[in-house]
Amino acid sequence: MLYEEQPMKIKIIQGAIQEQTADTIIVNLFDDVTTPGGAAGAVDKTLGGAISQLIANGDLTGKAGEVGVLYPRGDIPAHRVLVAGMGKRDGYDLEGARRAAAAAIKKARDLNAKQVATIVHGAGVAGLPTDAAAQATVEASLLALYRYDAPKQKKDESHEIETLTVVEFDAGKLADIESGVEKAKGIVAGTAVARDLVNMPPNVATPTKMAETAAKIAKKHGLKITVGGRKWAGKRNMGAFLAVAKGAGEPPKFIVLEHNAMWEDLDTIVLVGKGITFDTGGISIKPVQGMGKMKADMGGAAAVMGAMKAIATLNLPLHVVGIMPCTENMPDANAYRPADVITASNGKTIEIISTDAEGRMVLADGLVYAGRYNPKAVVDLATLTGANVIALGAGVAASLFSTDDALRDKLAAAGQAVHERLWPMPLFADYRKSIDSDVADMMNSGGRFGGVGTSATFLKEFTDYPWAHLDIAGQALSEKDEPYTPKGGTGFGVRLLVEFLLNW
Ligand code: BES
Ligand code: MN
Ligand code: ZN
Repeated sequence: MLYEEQPMKIKIIQGAIQEQTADTIIVNLFDDVTTPGGAAGAVDKTLGGAISQLIANGDLTGKAGEVGVLYPRGDIPAHRVLVAGMGKRDGYDLEGARRAAAAAIKKARDLNAKQVATIVHGAGVAGLPTDAAAQATVEASLLALYRYDAPKQKKDESHEIETLTVVEFDAGKLADIESGVEKAKGIVAGTAVARDLVNMPPNVATPTKMAETAAKIAKKHGLKITVGGRKWAGKRNMGAFLAVAKGAGEPPKFIVLEHNAMWEDLDTIVLVGKGITFDTGGISIKPVQGMGKMKADMGGAAAVMGAMKAIATLNLPLHVVGIMPCTENMPDANAYRPADVITASNGKTIEIISTDAEGRMVLADGLVYAGRYNPKAVVDLATLTGANVIALGAGVAASLFSTDDALRDKLAAAGQAVHERLWPMPLFADYRKSIDSDVADMMNSGGRFGGVGTSATFLKEFTDYPWAHLDIAGQALSEKDEPYTPKGGTGFGVRLLVEFLLNW
């Protein structure tokens, strides 16, 4: 599996980019610049104005996504120079740096580059902080080259870049670059775990596989791990989690990973991820069309898993608990049914309207379990509702609900910083009424209208701490290639959670 390997070596050195012995060097250019400055300017000078000439002729414009290729033919050690378009300088941000880095590294790969040297995008005239710009450059370079190692007889033979060297002229910036690159490496390793789990077919990424992955991470990074099966969950009265698991052939696993479990003086943050390894809808079965996409219904748990790996790698000074209730949702003679009344681990009763509203069921017991840690904040991530995709769009933003304004603001800011955007949504009291039940404390579905809000309101019933809920339906799986996210599992949530915790 990809995340076990180190796909590309990262080095950092002080020096001038045009003097590097790499086969490929990467510099950049803002939109509408006629005379390149900085590193591109230095290369331009050494090449007798070759870049300026391309700009004058209209071959290079510096617009976002553009990658110009020059062949210096011996004037400098590198065989080729890539000029990454940065877009407009006005309002330039880290996402611009990520996209420029991603476009350039993919071009380098396609040209069969092996040794690549790059400058840090955005740390020059754009004035972004050096560590953040270095992180963005390296993170996006690694993420753009991510590929799922699919089980095929005919292996993907596309080229692999061996080394990426980050080159900085100013020796005073090296320490910041070092720290940004370290963050990038940890975050990418975590994101790759999440992407891999979503990309695996549902007969492979079973709850057992989720537990094995957690065990590997725990072993490698010294995390505390608990994996509970049906009996374990039964002892803890997790009726909601077990109801969904009743029809499952694959054994369910309630997984808990804990970073800094022994450190009682640290703030405790709990992350909870929906881990439905395949959602058929159960007895309220889904239509044939597109059911296969429900292999991504463990995207929340995958994000928590990846975040825990990154958090451990970066050794964040917090007590972080990752809770992943994992099971399939299958129709079966034993499956739970509409009209069943289920008791969750906090004693609240739930009338089942639809067995397809299973995510909130497993999260209910996950959220109750989170309470035992006396958390400063609990954040859950779930591919919870189709209504969320209708409301915000696929690959655009996740819904953000919170019972705590400060927590909401922190998450929204983190989402903005890493470009995993969150959009605030309301927890109106009206939504609670629409899940009122005649036979139980609540129903598990409020029907078609306001489906994002009613599902969040359902979850709130199981929380008694500062809490936020992210509906990531439409974010976990991408149907098209994005700048630094190939089609498939996105790892959405990992970068966001780590950014949020780094700033806690
Ligand atoms: N996993 C689905 C939600 C989903 C839909 C995720 C599309 C990603 C893309 C969830 O379990 C579900 O089936 N929700 C139902 C809830 C309804 C029965 C109240 C839905 O959205 O239709
Ligand atoms: Mn469902
Ligand atoms: Zn689901």
